[in-house]
Amino acid sequence: MGRVVGKACVVTGAGSGIGRAIAERLAEEGGKVLCVDIQIESVTKTVAGIIAAGGVAEAVEADVSDPVKSAAFINRCVELYGSIDILINNAAVNLPGIFHEVTNEVIDRTFDVNIKGPMYSTRAAIPHMLRQSGGSIVNIASVNALIAEQFLTVYAASKGAVAMLTKGIAVDYAKQGIRCNCICPGWVDTPINYAHAEMLGGLAKIYASIDDFQPIGRPGEPREIAHLALFLASDEASFLTGSIITADGGMTAK
Ligand SMILES: NC(=O)c1ccc[n+]([C@@H]2O[C@H](COP(=O)([O-])OP(=O)(O)OC[C@H]3O[C@@H](n4cnc5c(N)ncnc54)[C@H](O)[C@@H]3O)[C@@H](O)[C@H]2O)c1
Repeated sequence: MGRVVGKACVVTGAGSGIGRAIAERLAEEGGKVLCVDIQIESVTKTVAGIIAAGGVAEAVEADVSDPVKSAAFINRCVELYGSIDILINNAAVNLPGIFHEVTNEVIDRTFDVNIKGPMYSTRAAIPHMLRQSGGSIVNIASVNALIAEQFLTVYAASKGAVAMLTKGIAVDYAKQGIRCNCICPGWVDTPINYAHAEMLGGLAKIYASIDDFQPIGRPGEPREIAHLALFLASDEASFLTGSIITADGGMTAK
């Protein structure tokens, strides 16, 4: 038996990295997964992989910063699978820069995708979850919700907001069986980091000295974050809500 058998799931940003790994992990444990991404080719690949492995999934192209599209993919999940039991707000952008040079477009895009996106999809999912008397929402924030890093001020501010969105939803709906938790990953090996890595002197340089900031001494793997997301999404985490959990190889321990 799987750990989320028959649960209807939405994963945003499921075309790459952590989102793809979460979609795969949920499907392996019996979840039916609506995989959302702005990049249709990559999310179609995620879905093809899940189906080839015997799972249930469908791809949807959507920009999470569009409230109409967000409501539409939540409704599509209910239409397709009969409910929305698990929502993973994972899609994000990381547009690093020297703070006083950052453009309005960068500030707007970062906040539109990283915090308004999770707000729109969560707002659309909650009426269904209330009707079902429950649901589990997992937001993917970042260690930058907790600690600052050079060139990431705008990103970090957006991720700090994701942590507080998590707590707010947890408090508002605790009595109605809707749980909301947040994961703060450390450095995981995915493309979202590449622009930041360039500003810091390149990925090779960072990985050569990763001990300096991530004590475990290596980048995380998307699947290592997915295991935690699966746990939080599942009924095994029935006493967890409003939790901000690091999965960071010890980065925030020092
Ligand atoms: N990789 C890390 O080191 C790290 C660390 C901390 C937090 N995170 C967080 O993990 C999450 C996943 O990132 P990742 O590392 O897998 O990066 P990634 O670049 O591999 O994947 C991000 C995915 O989100 C999609 N996406 C971007 N904007 C979108 C939008 N507007 N609408 C829909 N989809 C959109 C992209 O197309 C991509 O498929 C993000 O929230 C990120 O902030 C990552």
